[in-house]
This record gives sequence, structure tokens and C-alpha cells, in this order.
Amino acid sequence: MTLRIGIIGTGAIGTDHARRINRVLSGAEVTAVTDVNRDSAEACVAGVAPGAQILGSAEEVIAASDAVLVCSWGTAHETQVLAAIAAGKPCFCEKPLATEAYGARRIVEAEEAMGRRLVQVGFMRRYDRGYVALKETVRTRLGPPLMIHAAHRNPSVPGRYRTPMAIHDTLIHEIDVLRWLLDDEYVSAQVIFPRATRHTHAGLRDPQIVLLETAKGVRIDVEIFVNCRYGYDIQCEVVGEEGTARLPEPTAIPTRLGAVFGQPILMDWKDRFIDSYDVELQDFLKAAAQGTAAGPSAWDGYAAAITADVCVQAQERPGAILPVTLPARPALYA
Ligand code: NAI
Repeated sequence: MTLRIGIIGTGAIGTDHARRINRVLSGAEVTAVTDVNRDSAEACVAGVAPGAQILGSAEEVIAASDAVLVCSWGTAHETQVLAAIAAGKPCFCEKPLATEAYGARRIVEAEEAMGRRLVQVGFMRRYDRGYVALKETVRTRLGPPLMIHAAHRNPSVPGRYRTPMAIHDTLIHEIDVLRWLLDDEYVSAQVIFPRATRHTHAGLRDPQIVLLETAKGVRIDVEIFVNCRYGYDIQCEVVGEEGTARLPEPTAIPTRLGAVFGQPILMDWKDRFIDSYDVELQDFLKAAAQGTAAGPSAWDGYAAAITADVCVQAQERPGAILPVTLPARPALYA
């Protein structure tokens, strides 16, 4: 059976996921799309989804599909995901699950009321080969993890990017993937600001350092530096009792040329985890064919949203250590 997939929001990632489903993955076809900007929907259909009909609303797409992808702007996610749950349709939601933690909480409650998992959140780093190998090394060889040193660096960001976006748009991936990597929960967050780069502006404090502490006592430092100039660079080193392990660098050809030993660094974030998007969506399609969802859950989206909210509060009180408090995990997400 070919799964009929609806896409809500056909911008950059919505169209890329449509391409992926129709041309790379198996078991599904994009059959319906919608976008508040009709030109965007038409471009998506013309480019990568010739068999899809363009519908006027998210609700119509949900009704016409076996499963849906929510790829609209973050502010629209909560309503659209709730509509998919109400219709009993598996739903892949790009991050963030909701722009505020209480919105994510409503999604968790709606899913619990349905009694089965229907939502997968687009935390694709959990599907990255490097992170999967790192997690396995941490679990089997490193002894108990003690510390993580991580960095998330972008060459530059658009002028509209402001200080809180360093948490909601950038750190959000580390918030999720490090919690998954350690199989642990955050208990506190702190933000400190080093000397600012001259490449930033009044609305963006850059770089920043976020310090997280977990329930098992692991200390995590994440440098966020979104005007680093030199490349898109994701670093993660786990320090355990028996040794350390690092996230592998992306594959690139090292050269010895002109008296220089060199290795290229990626510039575009889209290239860094490109393979993991294929794996995460195939995982979604596999579970959706059974009428359910797997992978990062609404609970994970909620936990990330709570932590992100505390980190933004910590940005407003540099140096203060603020508690991160998660409610008890419902049985559905055990
Ligand atoms: P985009 O601006 O290129 O596309 C969003 C599209 O959604 C636009 O065409 C817009 O017209 C449409 N839209 C907005 N509100 C809508 C609504 N209420 N109903 C229907 N359509 C609506 O943005 P982009 O980059 O594609 O991002 C979309 C989402 O994906 C964001 O939440 C973003 O954070 C997330 N994202 C996740 C990535 C990841 O690494 N997992 C990477 C890039 C984006």
C-alpha cells in the first residue's frame, strides 16, 4: 500500500521533504499540499510533487491524507498538530513542536487522550550516523559520562536573528540530542556571555555559552557562536570515567597542497545532517503505515520546549542558575 502523505507548509523544508518522499524514500507519495502562500504550494507541486492536489487548508489536507507533515512556521505547528491528532492521523512535525512549552503540553495531553503515539518531532540529529555511533560508544565503552563540551557555530545569520533565537532556533537541536545521547534529564541552566564579536549587532549577543546540568550530575557546556565566519561547525566531546569520545567530522577529502595540510569545513547547515533527514522520514513512514509514530516524541518536544524557555530566561539573567523542572513522564512515553 502506498501511503498518501499531506504536506502543510511547502517552503524550504516542506518542499525538500516532498522531494525526499517522492524520489528517495519508499512506501509513500505526496498526494496533497497546502500553504498560506499559494505560489509556494504551486512551486512545490510543479517541482517535486506532480501528483499532489493543492488544498485550501491544513484541515482539508489532514482529511485527504493517511499521514501529514507539518512544515509551516513554528507559530502554526500547535494548531495543525492538534488537528492531526484529533483526526487520528500520524503527524511528523518539524521543530519546534510548539513555540511555548504550554502549547507542547497541550499536544502531549491530546496524544495521551488518544492513547497512542501519533506525533514524531523533526529532531533529525538522533538519526545522524555520527551521533548514533557516539551514543553507542558512550553507552558501551566510556564508563559513566561526566561532562560534555559542545559547540554550535554558524558562519553568519540573517539580520532578523535575535538573542533568544540562539536558543529556540539553534541550541534546540543540542537540547534534544544531548538529552537523548545521555539518556538523562536537565535540572538546571545558566547562560554567560563572553566578549562579543564585532560581527554582531545590538539585537544579538554573540557568542554565548549555555551551561546545563543533568539529573545524574553531568555538566554540559555549549558554545553558540552564530557569526563565527569560518564555517558551519558542530562539535561534541563526551568526557567519561574511562576516556573521551568525539562526534566525527563530516566526510571530506584532506589535502596536502601548497605546503598546507587542509580539510574543508562545510559552510551551509543544510549539508551537515543531510543524510539524517532521509533516515528520520523513512522511520516516520514505517510507523505511519501502522497508524502510529516512532522516533522523537511529543514528550521530547515538550521537554525541549521547557528547557528552551528556561534558557531564554537565563539569557535575561546572565550568570544565574535557573532550575529546569519536568513533570513526571506519562506512561505513553515510557
Ligand atoms: P519557510 O519559510 O521556507 O517555509 C514555511 C512555509 O510555511 C512557507 O511557505 C509559509 O508560507 C508556510 N506557512 C506558514 N504558516 C502557514 C500556515 N498556517 N498554514 C500553511 N502554510 C503556512 O521555512 P522553513 O525553513 O521551511 O521552516 C519551516 C519549519 O521547519 C520551521 O518550523 C523550521 O524551524 C523548521 N526547520 C527545521 C529544520 C531542521 O533542521 N529540522 C531545518 C529547517 C527548518
